[in-house]
Amino acid sequence: MLPIGLQNRGNAQLSGSIVPFTLPFRTPPVLNPVRKDSTTDYYQITMRKAQVEILPGRTTEIWGYNGIFPGPLIKQSKGRRTFVRFINNLDISTSIHLHGMESPPQYDGYATDSISPRYYKDYLYPNTFAANFWYHDHGHTQTTRNVYMGLAGMYIVQDDEELALQLPQGNYDVPLIIQDRQFAPDGSFILNTNNQTTVMGDVILVNGVPWPFMQLANRKYRFRVLNASSSRSYRLSLSTGDSLIAIGTDGGLMAAPVNTPELRIAPGERYDFIIDFSRYPIGTRVELQNLPLQSNFNFSNTDKIMCFDVVRAETDNSSIPNVLRNIQFIPESAAVRTRDFDLDQINGVWVINGNRWNLNRIDANIPLNQVEIWTFRHPVNAGVHPMHLHGVKLQMLDRNGQPPLPYERGWKDVFYVGEDEIVRVIGIFGPQQGKFMYHCHNMVHEDFDMMSQFEVGQGGISPTAAKAKPLPAPPL
Ligand code: C2O
Ligand code: CU
Ligand code: CU
Repeated sequence: MLPIGLQNRGNAQLSGSIVPFTLPFRTPPVLNPVRKDSTTDYYQITMRKAQVEILPGRTTEIWGYNGIFPGPLIKQSKGRRTFVRFINNLDISTSIHLHGMESPPQYDGYATDSISPRYYKDYLYPNTFAANFWYHDHGHTQTTRNVYMGLAGMYIVQDDEELALQLPQGNYDVPLIIQDRQFAPDGSFILNTNNQTTVMGDVILVNGVPWPFMQLANRKYRFRVLNASSSRSYRLSLSTGDSLIAIGTDGGLMAAPVNTPELRIAPGERYDFIIDFSRYPIGTRVELQNLPLQSNFNFSNTDKIMCFDVVRAETDNSSIPNVLRNIQFIPESAAVRTRDFDLDQINGVWVINGNRWNLNRIDANIPLNQVEIWTFRHPVNAGVHPMHLHGVKLQMLDRNGQPPLPYERGWKDVFYVGEDEIVRVIGIFGPQQGKFMYHCHNMVHEDFDMMSQFEVGQGGISPTAAKAKPLPAPPL
C-alpha cells in the first residue's frame, strides 16, 4: 500500500540530534484569493511535491498544498462562500475534505471522490459558522500516508459577533498545528504504523517546525490548536503551572471561558485557548508541555511541544469576556433515537459494530433535522478512538456517566473515546442532506477500516456528483 521508501524502515530516532526550542516559530502563510465577487472568494491550491528543510541542514520530501508544510492558512468570513480549485500535480490520487464544515456531499471529500494525477476539482464551501476547520486528504486507505506526507492545512472562519468580543486578534491570534513525525538520517519521513495500530513519531512539530521557540509580548494571545497528528494525542500544559484559558472547541467559541491546568487533544480535535503572558516578567520562558498519556509512545522529547519567550512589553487592549457565545445545549429529552457503536479490533482490523467500511452500506438513515444520541463504546484497553462525524456538529452528553470535561462543553465533531470508555453525544442531523462518513480519527484506524457512513434525509446529492476534471483548467 505504501510506496517503497515509505515502508517501515525501523525506528531510527533523530530527536536526539535536535535541541528543542532552538528553531524559530512561524505560522503558515495566509492564502490570498485569486479573485472575489459579491458572494464568493476564489482560491486555487496546487498539490505538489517539494523538498523542504524541516530538520536543520537536511531536506525532506513533502507532498504539500502549494508545496508547503503545513498548507497555507485560509481565512474566511461567515456568510461568504469559498470556492477552492484543487489541482493535483502529485502522482497519487487525492480527495480533499474540509473537516468541520457543513459542506454538501459532493464537496465533502468522500473517500472515493478522488482527484487523479493531473486532474483538478472545484470545491464550494458555505462557511455557515465561525470556527477552526482544517482541510486534509481523505483518500480511502491512504489518509494516513497522504496527511503524513504533508496534505493538511488550517481554515478559519470568523464572524462579526466574535470579532466584536475584543479577544486577541490579528498577530495575537495564532494557529498551532501540532504533528509528530519520524525521520530517517537523510531527513526523509519514516511512516511506521506499528502493524496498522498507531503512528508515534519522536519529533514534535508545530506548524512544521520541530519544538519551536516563539518570541512574544507580555500580553494575552489566543492560540488555535489543531492536532493534525496521525495517532498521537497530547495533554497540553504550561511549565509555570498556570492555567490555560480555554475559549473554543471544534465548532467555535464556547459559552464561557474555562480555566484548565491541562487540555487533552486527540487527532482531529481543535481547541482555542488564551495564555495571558502579562503575568510574566520580560525574559521569562514558558514551555508548552505534553503530559504523559497511556496511549502514547514516549521518546526523549515528546514531553515538550514548544516554548514562549516573553521578550517585549506592549499594552494589551484585548479582553476575555465572561460570556463568549450563546450556545443552546440540546437536552437529552430532545432525542428521538439512540444508536450504539462498538469500537473493536477483530482479526487485526478496526471495526465499528463488527463492520469494515463498505461503500454500498449505510449504517444509519436519519430523517433531516432528527435529534439523535450516538453512544460510542470502547470496551478494550487498546488506545484512543477519536470518533468523528462529517457534516454535523454535536455536543457531548457524558463519558462513563460523568459530565464531559469542562473544556469539552461546546460544539464538537471529534470525541475522545479512551480506554474502557463509553461516550454519549447528541446532535441535530443536518443541515445538509446526503451521505456522510463517520470514523475514528486515528488515521491508521480510519484507513484500516474503522469508518462507515450515515445518510441524512432522502434524495441528497451523490457524494461523487461533482467529478474531478482533467487539466488544463479554464481560468478561474
Ligand atoms: Cu478530519 Cu473524515 O476527517
Ligand atoms: Cu471531517
Ligand atoms: Cu480508533
